[in-house]
Amino acid sequence: MPYQDAYTFFSPTRLVVGRGSRAQILDLLNTRNCSTPLIVTDKGLVAAGVVELVTNHLDDAGIPYATYDGVMPNPPIKVVDECVGAYRSGRCDSIVIVGGGSSIDTAKCAGVLATNGGEIASYFGSGNVKERMPFTIAIPTTYGTGSEVTPFAVITDEQNFKAAVRGDEIIPDVGLLDSDLAVQLPLPVGAATGMDALTHAIESYVANTSNALADASALQAIRMISENIRQAASSDHNHDATEKMLVASTLAGVAFSQTLLGNVHAMSHPVSGHYGVAHGVANAVLLPRIMDFNLIACPGRFAEIAAALGEDVADLSETEAADASVDAVEALNEELGIPETLSEAGAEADGIPVMAEDAMKSINIQLNPRKTTLDDVVALYEESF
Ligand SMILES: [Fe+2]
Repeated sequence: MPYQDAYTFFSPTRLVVGRGSRAQILDLLNTRNCSTPLIVTDKGLVAAGVVELVTNHLDDAGIPYATYDGVMPNPPIKVVDECVGAYRSGRCDSIVIVGGGSSIDTAKCAGVLATNGGEIASYFGSGNVKERMPFTIAIPTTYGTGSEVTPFAVITDEQNFKAAVRGDEIIPDVGLLDSDLAVQLPLPVGAATGMDALTHAIESYVANTSNALADASALQAIRMISENIRQAASSDHNHDATEKMLVASTLAGVAFSQTLLGNVHAMSHPVSGHYGVAHGVANAVLLPRIMDFNLIACPGRFAEIAAALGEDVADLSETEAADASVDAVEALNEELGIPETLSEAGAEADGIPVMAEDAMKSINIQLNPRKTTLDDVVALYEESF
């Protein structure tokens, strides 16, 4: 049992939480004598006026900066190359990310190239990054990936395969959780990203690698998501629920940074890579099916998840309570308007053989609580179309 012999808990990111806390970027940049940040974001956030909520503080202080706003969902390698090009041509010395997981992951990869040189493909896998990326402040505008605290960056390569860079060198220095930047997420985006965070927490909690230190973060994330996702995603004004979702997403990120994930992420990445389905949507569709598949391996853990999701399990047997966790996630998906199937989400069942092969390459398959074969993955995809 190589993964269970010992464990480490490592979460070095400074977290600054609170509405308006983005004003602290000046002091945060000063602590590291940084004078010229690169802002990494996407055009939608620029147009919506979200980016200027941050850059106004730089403008007012007369701090020069460059901007790269070419990030797109499921970012391909060329976006990373453009981003590091903007860093170099702007003579930048630090990175401020205003965006969701795609922006944070793009910036992490660009940061790797800024300090290590070369091509991003040579850093795919674990432990290949030697030099730490530049000082980086991540300001998430969605409550999903937890990438502001994780040692992972996911990029789509030329074969539409989702490839990950993993290393402590790409854990951001600061995560700044400011509800002003996420409070106006459209419902489908809030729902999808929030369900991604819930997937992180649940997969971490039942992973073969779960441990007491990660459990605390995962279980609290599940509670906070269940209590706040509906209000945060459906309102443009609920700062309390939005901040709690940002914190929950970060907690889930802390948890899965330690444990990694399971079948849901192994199987959702090929769906997004090949068909462009939003990461959170692919996860949300797969999550209840894979929870059901996993129940037999750790019913006690799923019974605890049911309670954390707000289910009344007091008079239920362990098995009944475990079943209730699946029902709770299905009901939440329905309330949030998540598609029922992967075909409804835009993927095609013809792709199952290729996606199943891709999924089996993920280490997350090995960490899933129930041992999973290629045939199991094919069957789980078939159930989800
Ligand atoms: Fe995820």
